[in-house]
Amino acid sequence: MKLYRASVLRFDPAQPQHAMPIFDADGGVLVGLPETDKLNTADHSHRPAVEQFLDVGPWATLRERYPHVPVHDYSGRVLAPGFVDLHVHYPQTDVMGSPADGLLPWLEQYTFPHESRFADANYAAQVAEVFLDELQRHGVTTALTFATSHPESVNALMQQASERGLRLIAGKVLQDRHSPDGVRDDTEQSLVDTEALINRWHGQGRLGYAITPRFAPSCSDAQMRGAGELAQRFPSVWVQSHVAENLDEVRWVQELYPKSRSYLSVYDDFGLLRPRAVYAHCIYLDAQDRALMRDTGTVAAVSPTSNLFLGSGFFDYAAADEAGHLYGLASDVGGGTSFSPFQTMLAAYYVGRANVNGGGQHKRGVSLKPSHLWWQHTAGAAQALGLQGVVGNIAIGCEADFVIINPQAQPLLARKWQQAQSLEEALFALIVLGDDRVMETVHVAQQ
Ligand code: GUN
Ligand code: ZN
Repeated sequence: MKLYRASVLRFDPAQPQHAMPIFDADGGVLVGLPETDKLNTADHSHRPAVEQFLDVGPWATLRERYPHVPVHDYSGRVLAPGFVDLHVHYPQTDVMGSPADGLLPWLEQYTFPHESRFADANYAAQVAEVFLDELQRHGVTTALTFATSHPESVNALMQQASERGLRLIAGKVLQDRHSPDGVRDDTEQSLVDTEALINRWHGQGRLGYAITPRFAPSCSDAQMRGAGELAQRFPSVWVQSHVAENLDEVRWVQELYPKSRSYLSVYDDFGLLRPRAVYAHCIYLDAQDRALMRDTGTVAAVSPTSNLFLGSGFFDYAAADEAGHLYGLASDVGGGTSFSPFQTMLAAYYVGRANVNGGGQHKRGVSLKPSHLWWQHTAGAAQALGLQGVVGNIAIGCEADFVIINPQAQPLLARKWQQAQSLEEALFALIVLGDDRVMETVHVAQQ
């Protein structure tokens, strides 16, 4: 066991649907392996034997309770939950910063040609390593990621995530139409491959599998139906896709599915909306769509740097809260422009402020609180994944993924940090001025 002393930032675990920050300026955290009889949660879902938070609170209390446990003293630094990236594409690590006239030209000109290279397992393994290095360097300890349509691209990533002990969820992309040679898959084989990958990786240690139809335009009815059937047969597996990101894309889906009420309802028609289904973007939804999200337990992966970079539009936070569906933050690299949670949280703040959705429709501009932005990228994102109490928080029973942030590591931030009058001001200073230099330690729960 180890005792950490630092300023501790966490969220009230009794209110997982709300961003209720708790900050102990002089706090303590006890980390160690749990007793084995505590590994199986009430629903008997499998929990691997990795370090957990065994206690947390004010430093004086913890020191008194555990007088003989060795202390790691990080006074003056902030110990906070490892970040959770709700939507990212590992094979697009080198696609970041590719300019194009919006989503569909960007896919055609840069993304599909690049992803075709992942047919080569060695290439996939090489990029997987860079990708995981980047996640960890930026303090991201859990991610839900797309691979490519090549099963080997999943194996390459899962293998390396497993060696690092990371909690990672990934899936082979399904795209059997409107996709060029090199990334287009075969309908039947794609479903056989998906099932084999679920059996190979889902629930292995900290790994999870996500059924991954790329988006409605790239999947035939048969492929969507097959994906929906797998989603029903494997309820603990995740589902990930894209929806309502870009106006040209929305029009295309209307042409392809003239009978569907909306883009989102196409997924509903194939049984692809359910708890553990995570849809990136969710910009051009109406009230009925948002109610459908809530009623099916489907969640949104808000991807603000990507939406700004590709000129897609602006997520409507007020409407999402009014409907009451869950959401969390995502980098969406390589449409997104950074692996840094600070960059993503700042972009989310910009997006919140916007009072149009990008399609000319009014949306209510909101000023998201810094602690709420932080929550969206940690405990809130974990909740959206159905992993509350497992990752995303410093709470007893959570796996011990955490970051230690040193605000002194940047001169301007050090000044601003010192002048902060409240927790919100201090967190905003980090969000606006922080980058990977302040990530002093990124700890992944050890076996
Ligand atoms: N829609 C379908 N594929 C993609 C992708 O790779 N990135 C983004 N941002 N949107 C998509
Ligand atoms: Zn995406």
